[in-house]
Amino acid sequence: MNKSLAIITAFLACFLLCCCQGKEGKRYVIGVSQCSEDIWRDKLNEELKTATFPEDEVSLQFASADDNDTLQIRQIEQFIKEGVDLLVISPNQAHAITPVVNKAMQKGIPVILFDRRTDGAYTAFIGADNEEIGRQMGDFVARQTGHRGSVVEIMGLKGSSPAADRHRGFIQSIGKYPGIKFVSLQGDWTKASGKRAILDLKRRQGSDFCATIDYVFAQNDRMAMGALEAGVLGKRTKLCGVDALPGPEGGMRLVADSVLSASYIYPTRGDLVLKLALNILKHRPYSKENLLQSALVTPDKAPLMRMQADEMNMQQQRIQDLHKKLDLFFVRYHHQKVYLLFTVIILILLVGIFIYVYRMAVYRHRMTEKAITEKLQHYMQLNEQRNRMERLAQLPAAESADNVLDADTKFMNRIFDCIIKNLSDSAFSVELLAAQLGMSRVQLYRKVKTITDSSPVEIIRITRLQQADRLLRQGGMNVSEVSYEVGFSSPSYFSKCYKEHFGHQPTASGTHAE
Ligand code: FRU
Repeated sequence: MNKSLAIITAFLACFLLCCCQGKEGKRYVIGVSQCSEDIWRDKLNEELKTATFPEDEVSLQFASADDNDTLQIRQIEQFIKEGVDLLVISPNQAHAITPVVNKAMQKGIPVILFDRRTDGAYTAFIGADNEEIGRQMGDFVARQTGHRGSVVEIMGLKGSSPAADRHRGFIQSIGKYPGIKFVSLQGDWTKASGKRAILDLKRRQGSDFCATIDYVFAQNDRMAMGALEAGVLGKRTKLCGVDALPGPEGGMRLVADSVLSASYIYPTRGDLVLKLALNILKHRPYSKENLLQSALVTPDKAPLMRMQADEMNMQQQRIQDLHKKLDLFFVRYHHQKVYLLFTVIILILLVGIFIYVYRMAVYRHRMTEKAITEKLQHYMQLNEQRNRMERLAQLPAAESADNVLDADTKFMNRIFDCIIKNLSDSAFSVELLAAQLGMSRVQLYRKVKTITDSSPVEIIRITRLQQADRLLRQGGMNVSEVSYEVGFSSPSYFSKCYKEHFGHQPTASGTHAE
């Protein structure tokens, strides 16, 4: 019993283990610390997620600092505490974020800086060449104005590296043309800051100055739209920005619709960021500086570029949808495994309960038979005593001995006498017994039931078996002979009844194996 219990437990444990194993634990955890939350960052995050689909061993954790240095430092500290395997960081303001990036590096966590830089150590950088972007935008504006006129630049967040780099490139280019009057304003990458900067300019220089501006170069499209929203720029004022994102809100559409006269694709390329991360994590060769290609978007090129970008967007959406379906399938598959587990457990329990109930029934049957047998043995012994007394006293008939026995015992004695007389007759039945006792079958049944709590059939069977046991113990007869001797027409049926009654097979010597 203990052995089978151990087997069932082991089987269940194995099964449970197989079924409950969901998606196995990820080997690499990458913390992504974003300085802001906007559509450019959303695009990058989505690309990063899509890039992990074929990589089973990677999981990403995102944090966004909402343009707040203190919050970003706290979020990076948290990633360090959690022991992420690699950090991908876009620092809000270089100077403020440098110490915590240094700390991560000292702790041995590789850091990829993307799009923005710090002043300290890092494992690798990936992003566009912002100085080059500034230079190309400067060349474009200079060309458009005929190398003269009034140009305003709205810079991104002070202290963030792309703002400084784009500015440097822009003035390098614009500065070559003395005919261009140039003013630089401070923004912080948000649309509101673009609006604020232009309204500030109006306050300082007057609305006439604003109305005669030829070009506004905002360092991103959002700030360009903010500047336009200020409503103080003249009809002749043209705007350009950076990012050129696809989608309904993006700069690509604004250029195609001629709201902006140009923008510059500021690439996100989450796929390449993840590839670089995996190269670092897997100790494969990688470059420390990874510059991403980008391009100027002008109204003539914008429709085609927009079409291409939309197509790519659709493909990405399709991949994401497929991935969602696959995820759903895995969840269902996991649930089915759990249902199967429970079904198997319930089946095993049912089988267990069935075995238990069956064994209990057999046990109870045996106990009842034992009780009946004990009672019968009691009467049999009395019967034997009576016979012995008769023999000793050599009484002519049963009379004198019968006098000492009560009525029930006397009745039972008559039954045993009858059964033993007909012991080898397999056709001897309850009907014949009743007839020999001179009573009806029903009368016999009632009386026997009252005295012994069992039926005449049982008494015939148990008496036959008891006699068989006696004969087997005496020896001299084999099992078949004994079975015929006690009125069983089939030795195999005899063996079955004998085993049920005594709990072991009949053997000629009367001994038995457990
Ligand atoms: C997005 C963004 C872009 C800009 C870049 C500079 O958060 O503001 O608009 O080009 O960051 O880092």
